[in-house]
Amino acid sequence: MFPCKIWANCLQAEGWLLLWLLVLLPPSANGSFLRRYFALPASRFNLTPGRSGQPIEPAPTRPHKTASYILDDAPELGRLFDGIGGMSGGGAASRLLVNYPEPHRSEILDYLFKPNFGASLHILKVGIGGDGQTTDGTEPSHMHYKGDENYFRGYEWWLMKEAKKRNPNIRLFGLPWSFPGWLGPGKSDPYDNMTMTALYVVSWILGAKKHHELDIDYIGVSNIFEVIFHFFPFTLHL
Ligand SMILES: *[C@@H]1O[C@H](CO)[C@@H](O)[C@H](O)[C@H]1NC(C)=O
Repeated sequence: MFPCKIWANCLQAEGWLLLWLLVLLPPSANGSFLRRYFALPASRFNLTPGRSGQPIEPAPTRPHKTASYILDDAPELGRLFDGIGGMSGGGAASRLLVNYPEPHRSEILDYLFKPNFGASLHILKVGIGGDGQTTDGTEPSHMHYKGDENYFRGYEWWLMKEAKKRNPNIRLFGLPWSFPGWLGPGKSDPYDNMTMTALYVVSWILGAKKHHELDIDYIGVSNIFEVIFHFFPFTLHL
């Protein structure tokens, strides 16, 4: 039987290792992993210098496949496209932005969130601070200990409000990437008492509404594979 427990403990290390392996995979006959995965034209990677005075020959193009791609918007046949999202997490992805001088800070926020302008993000996913290392840094929890409540720590509240100011329809997504130690007392397992962990997350959602007038649309759970395969390409680094 598969050693589930050992696997769960190693998820994070395995996840990062996998990411690096994918990036470092040598090009095969079909092109490198990245080229295949993102379907970038091979000619972009043709860095062979031309002979002096000669233009660089374009890479030979492959015969174009003519298979048609049918779009069917009949209801309930598939998933809907919810938009393109950006993630502020990892304890560092947007840590510096809040301290940028104006007008540059506002300009960057406009480029990120203003509709039909720049990135025009439809979804903003933020880390729910958990007092723990979350890849590149640490964000403060809204509950340092049981009974503690403070919804003004960190910079994610600010970022969500700046996003909403520019696009009131932007969807908000919270992700507890790390949990404070008191949630898994003595076991380092925040899922040991699910009721307590659920109350912790729900209090963040309620705090967002009560203190910042923010409606949280989605909540995720910490999961390295989710991040690598769905959200990593959209991570903001500012
Ligand atoms: C789990 O947490 C809830 C909420 O704090 C508490 O009422 C309950 O007694 C806890 N369960 C255990 C087994 O500790």
